[in-house]
Amino acid sequence: MISPYVVTLFHLLLLYSFGFSVGFKESRKSGESNCRENERQALLNFKQSLIDHYGRLSTWTDHQNNTDCCNWEGIQCNHQTGHVILLDLRCLDTKYLKGAINLTSLIHLQYIQHLDLSNNDFMWTHIPQAIGSFTNLQYLNFSFSEFSGMIPFQLGNLSLLRYLDLGRNHLRGTVPFQIGNLRQLQYLDLASNSLSGAIPFRNENLPLLQTLGLGGDFDIKAEDSQWLSNLHFLRSLHLSSLHNLNSSRQWLQAISDLIPNLVELRLFDCSLSDTNIKSLFRSHSNFSTSLAVLDLSYNVLTSSTFQLLFNFSLHLQELYLTDNDIALSSFLYPNFPSLNILDLSRNNLTASVFGDNFNVRSKLRELRLYNCSFTDKSFPISSASTINSSSSLVVLDLSSNLLKSSTVFYWLLNYTTNLQTLLLFDNLLEGPIPDGFGEVMNSLEQFYAYGNRLQGKIPSFFGNMCRLRTLDLSNNKLNGEISHFFQNSSWCNRHVFQNLDLSYNQITGKIPKSIILLSELEDLNLEGNSLEGEVTESHLSNFSKLETLSLSYNTLSLRFVSNWVPPFQATILSLASCKLGPSFPVWLRTQNSLMSLDISDNDLSDSIPAWFWNKLQNLGWLNMSHNNLNGAIPDIPLKLPYGPSIILNSNQFEGALPPFFLQASGLFLSQNRISDLHSFLCNQIIAPNLATLDLSNNHITAQIPDCWQSLHQLLFLDLSENHY
Ligand SMILES: *[C@@H]1O[C@H](CO)[C@@H](O)[C@H](O)[C@H]1NC(C)=O
Ligand SMILES: *[C@@H]1O[C@H](CO)[C@@H](O)[C@H](O)[C@H]1NC(C)=O
Ligand SMILES: *[C@@H]1O[C@H](CO)[C@@H](O)[C@H](O)[C@H]1NC(C)=O
Ligand SMILES: *[C@@H]1O[C@H](CO)[C@@H](O)[C@H](O)[C@H]1NC(C)=O
Ligand SMILES: *[C@@H]1O[C@H](CO)[C@@H](O)[C@H](O)[C@H]1NC(C)=O
Ligand SMILES: *[C@@H]1O[C@H](CO)[C@@H](O)[C@H](O)[C@H]1NC(C)=O
Ligand SMILES: *[C@@H]1O[C@H](CO)[C@@H](O)[C@H](O)[C@H]1NC(C)=O
Ligand SMILES: *[C@@H]1O[C@H](CO)[C@@H](O)[C@H](O)[C@H]1NC(C)=O
Ligand SMILES: *[C@@H]1O[C@H](CO)[C@@H](O)[C@H](O)[C@H]1NC(C)=O
Ligand SMILES: *[C@@H]1O[C@H](CO)[C@@H](O)[C@H](O)[C@H]1NC(C)=O
Ligand SMILES: *[C@@H]1O[C@H](CO)[C@@H](O)[C@H](O)[C@H]1NC(C)=O
Ligand SMILES: *[C@@H]1O[C@H](CO)[C@@H](O)[C@H](O)[C@H]1NC(C)=O
Repeated sequence: MISPYVVTLFHLLLLYSFGFSVGFKESRKSGESNCRENERQALLNFKQSLIDHYGRLSTWTDHQNNTDCCNWEGIQCNHQTGHVILLDLRCLDTKYLKGAINLTSLIHLQYIQHLDLSNNDFMWTHIPQAIGSFTNLQYLNFSFSEFSGMIPFQLGNLSLLRYLDLGRNHLRGTVPFQIGNLRQLQYLDLASNSLSGAIPFRNENLPLLQTLGLGGDFDIKAEDSQWLSNLHFLRSLHLSSLHNLNSSRQWLQAISDLIPNLVELRLFDCSLSDTNIKSLFRSHSNFSTSLAVLDLSYNVLTSSTFQLLFNFSLHLQELYLTDNDIALSSFLYPNFPSLNILDLSRNNLTASVFGDNFNVRSKLRELRLYNCSFTDKSFPISSASTINSSSSLVVLDLSSNLLKSSTVFYWLLNYTTNLQTLLLFDNLLEGPIPDGFGEVMNSLEQFYAYGNRLQGKIPSFFGNMCRLRTLDLSNNKLNGEISHFFQNSSWCNRHVFQNLDLSYNQITGKIPKSIILLSELEDLNLEGNSLEGEVTESHLSNFSKLETLSLSYNTLSLRFVSNWVPPFQATILSLASCKLGPSFPVWLRTQNSLMSLDISDNDLSDSIPAWFWNKLQNLGWLNMSHNNLNGAIPDIPLKLPYGPSIILNSNQFEGALPPFFLQASGLFLSQNRISDLHSFLCNQIIAPNLATLDLSNNHITAQIPDCWQSLHQLLFLDLSENHY
């Protein structure tokens, strides 16, 4: 299975690649003025409210040798005055910041012009009214950062603002009319929130707007359309979830008038019909030479809209029609001579056939067709002696369809020559992957075929695909020896290969030492097979970049020398049923990035070393159940900001339950010898987070104290089989 972490990473990278980038200047040379003390303190105070799991702010310290905050990560100062003018903490990769931030603590940064906190997790923080005092701001980006609450009207006081991006948060309430006063504003994105009410803008408002994103349950009124049609500089329009757009003639008219100037138009989830689209593209023929990106996903459009768009297609580069009611019998890309990306996912295309006319002379690079009810019949192989295959297509998504036989593989071999990303997961594919696939698909970089019924020996040809980075064949019925997978292969991709997921198949045998060839591996998942034999530190000695290691549910024995220091810092270790015991694995001590750890059912007969409990502070998931772990759990002042699930059942833990566990979201401790709940339940200091508490089958003898009223979140409680 593709892990949620991978999805997030992809998502974030995608977002970032569209990002507005700020030209960072080198930090100031020595001899220029240092940053101001009150601004430095403000930054340090701000940092206090953040959980910086990835060390993003490691340069923000109070150390003597580092007092010039102008040199800190994400900060830029004015060279003459030393005032902070830029703060950019946009999340890069997945290294996000978390925490209920106090923006008011930044109030001393009076000269700040550019503030970007996008793409983080601020845990439903509200935007404070004090935002109105950052009067020098020209750029404000809080998008996709888990902000909630209302949009403060004080934003209307930031008269120099040119960019305001609050999209993709949980903001609710109305849009304050004061925002309409921002005469310099070129970019306004409020889409993907829960806003409602009227659209407050009037004629003459926001005259310089080039990009507008609005989404939510707005009550759009005919008279507001006047304002829209006067936005003469508008190039990009994004309206989503406006459910009465389909019945507003004036709004559709205004959008239609704008189209000749637009480069990008997105009308997403607006209940639009073919008739609506006809009225938008009404009078023009070949009218728009500028429109390059059109997104009409999540509406109720049929094939007739698709046909209609042929007539306006000369310059269209990206077309998104996900989740409509389009049905096609054949694919006629030549009608879209400039198209790069086409997304028809979640339409019922069961009757479509990719015949000989597929892709002739098209420029299509990316074709997204997930969940379209495709069957094998859609992919016939031509009898023609020469087939026109596509060399432009590099991304093809056929996941979540009804493909069953190997036909699709042969079709791919015949019709494509340069595929880099192929998604075939969640189909019904049976039988082996044909050998030809290994011989022909030389450009493949990412291949996802999990959730099928693929059979046969695990193919040995993947090592010969020299660009392959990601291979996910999990949840199939592949069998044979794992060594076959490494056999006869040059592993010419070993310098790029990063992700291998073969979990939940029927693969047997010992993991060969030659696995160390894959020195760039970041994710290795072999969980749920029938692998056997010993895994020692020598198998893992080359994996300095490993982040995920999943070997659970095989019949492996993990045997590491007692002083082993892994060459990696893993974030996910899934080692259930790996015979790690009887001693507690001391090598975990050096793992400082762990977010998820499963060492359940490992014959561990030991007490837990004191250092281990500190690891809990970074964990979101811990499973140490079904061992013989013993002793009391120490009462130490741990902070558990990730609200972890902690699964410790079927061990020998005894004594009192420490209060720090209140911060977990789930605590499973059945079948232990816990005897005392008093300090746990009656703690007055820790804000409890617990939703699930299972203490059944313990040794609780004394009367249970009546301190339950503070556990507001509790949904499930099991205290059965105790001795009180
Ligand atoms: C705001 O940040 C996001 C990424 O975090 C980016 O996609 C978006 O383009 C930015 N907005 C502006 C106006 O630069
Ligand atoms: C400051 O000093 C500390 C400890 O002496 C050192 O770890 C750190 O790298 C130094 N930082 C800088 C920016 O020189
Ligand atoms: C946020 O910071 C401001 C200024 O430093 C302070 O007055 C206020 O009490 C803080 N708010 C919270 C909730 O900590
Ligand atoms: C903010 O704008 C309001 C009008 O929207 C005005 O009354 C107020 O004086 C302004 N405040 C500042 C500090 O400029
Ligand atoms: C507009 O869409 C809504 C659903 O959101 C639907 O109930 C309504 O009938 C549609 N109106 C028209 C004119 O199509
Ligand atoms: C659009 O332009 C192309 C090329 O200029 C022309 O062949 C085609 O007939 C035009 N279509 C319409 C509907 O005018
Ligand atoms: C496309 O344009 C041609 C020529 O103007 C016209 O005959 C045809 O009906 C148009 N097709 C659609 C679907 O509007
Ligand atoms: C797709 O359309 C076909 C008829 O063309 C129908 O038999 C089938 O049930 C539809 N599938 C879905 C998922 O709606
Ligand atoms: C391939 O394309 C050429 C024109 O480029 C065409 O003449 C030929 O019929 C096509 N072959 C097939 C099998 O479609
Ligand atoms: C495919 O789409 C249908 C409805 O459009 C939905 O019911 C179904 O769950 C989807 N299947 C997958 C695998 O996403
Ligand atoms: C095309 O498909 C046929 C099976 O229908 C297969 O035998 C042939 O190998 C395929 N072509 C290529 C280049 O793989
Ligand atoms: C691998 O190589 C061995 C001999 O070195 C040979 O017997 C076997 O057929 C080869 N297997 C594959 C799949 O190429």
